[in-house]
This record gives sequence, C-alpha cells and structure tokens, in this order.
Amino acid sequence: MHTTLTITLGLAAAAATPLTCAEPSDQQTLGVLQRDFHARGQATMDRVVQDGLQRICTLSGDQPPAEVAKALEADQMRTIVFPSGSLMGEWKRGEAIAQSGRGSMWNDQTGAAAGGSCYNCHQLSPQEQSHGTLAPSLLGFGNKRGNGPQVQQYVYGKIYNAKAYNLCSQMPRLGHAGTLTEQQIKDLVALLLDPASPVNK
Ligand code: HEC
Repeated sequence: MHTTLTITLGLAAAAATPLTCAEPSDQQTLGVLQRDFHARGQATMDRVVQDGLQRICTLSGDQPPAEVAKALEADQMRTIVFPSGSLMGEWKRGEAIAQSGRGSMWNDQTGAAAGGSCYNCHQLSPQEQSHGTLAPSLLGFGNKRGNGPQVQQYVYGKIYNAKAYNLCSQMPRLGHAGTLTEQQIKDLVALLLDPASPVNK
C-alpha cells in the first residue's frame, strides 16, 4: 500500500512539472550562431545576420500584416533585373544547374559557377527520384502554365528573387544574392517551360 502511494504521488509531481524546454530568445539563437559559425574564405560572418525582410518574417512567424508584405514585396520586385529579349535558355544546361548544390561555400572558388539546388526542395524531371518535398512539385510546369512571355517573365523573376512574389518564401533569392547568373536563370526557365524539357515530357 505504502509503495503504491509513493508511486502515485511521484507521477502526480512529474505531471505537475512537465519537462519543457523554454524557447530560446532571438538574441540567444544569434549568440549560438555567432559562436559556432566561423568565417572561412568567402563564407563571412554577415551570413548569420538577417536583413530587414528576414527579420520581419521571423518576428511575425512568417505572417507579416498584409500591407507590410505588399510594400516589401514591391521593394523586392524592384531588385529584379529582367534581361531584354528571350528569357528561354537551354534546358539541358538548366537541368545540370538544378542538380547542383555547389557554390558560395568556404571551399568553393570565389566567383566559380554555382548551382541552383532546385532538387533540394522541388521535384522537376521525373528521371530524378531523389528530390526534396519542402516545395511544390514543378513536374509538368510548362504544360500546366504555358510558356509565353508572361510565364517566362514570372519564372525568371521568381528564380531571381522569390520573395518579390511571396515575402516570407523559403526559396532563396538566387539572382538577387548573386548565386546564379542571368544565363543560368534563363537555362532554368527553359528547364521549366521548354516543351522538349523532361519536366514537360
Ligand atoms: C530551399 C528550398 C527551395 C529551393 C532551393 C528552391 N525553391 Fe522554388 N520554391 C520553394 C518554395 C517553398 C516554393 C513555394 C512557395 C513560394 O512560392 O514561394 C517555391 C516556389 C517556386 C516556384 C513557383 C511555383 C508556382 O507554382 O508558381 C518556382 C517556379 C520555383 N520555385 C522554381 C525553383 C527553381 C527553378 C529552383 C532552383 C534554381 C528553386 N525553385 C529552388 C522552395 C525552394
């Protein structure tokens, strides 16, 4: 009897003080990042500092007030440099860029061509089985959305600066950040939109 009572009381005490971890504050999180991230080569400490837009997304749980989001998306839209002429490059080169996650790391050569890491998040060509699922599948994108000038412009802009269209998007700003060149983005536009691309087969 005595033993049973002790166990019951023990459980009650445990239930009253559940094992929870307090959420770290932003300051604590930044402190850990600054402690553990070491600047090497081109990977400098500014990588762990959020810009204003990222800060607003963090503080609002990715749900800033609609009018704030609209104003900041307009700012991001103004960063996009649209080339004149056709935005369709070569889908075969686009597939290689989508596959590659190289570039901008401390051990990559500064200025060497980088990849887009598209498969980390998206499904694209059906031949590639190993793709991320964080983002919507882009399989059949051109078939579904068309491939005229407006869609080309949208895809180019989305790759250049995804946050111009969706402020707290998890997609990196690949043109704005200088990760991909104009020609590389055009090649990715072709990967998504060219009827001959495996994405649309
Ligand atoms: C870190 C993950 C991530 C990476 C890497 C990424 N994306 Fe995205 N992408 C997303 C997410 C999440 C969305 C959906 C939300 C949004 O629209 O912002 C998206 C949306 C898109 C859209 C809009 C889809 C639509 O239905 O209108 C396109 C186009 C796109 N991505 C293309 C690409 C291409 C091409 C690459 C490689 C250069 C790429 N993405 C890399 C996460 C990613």
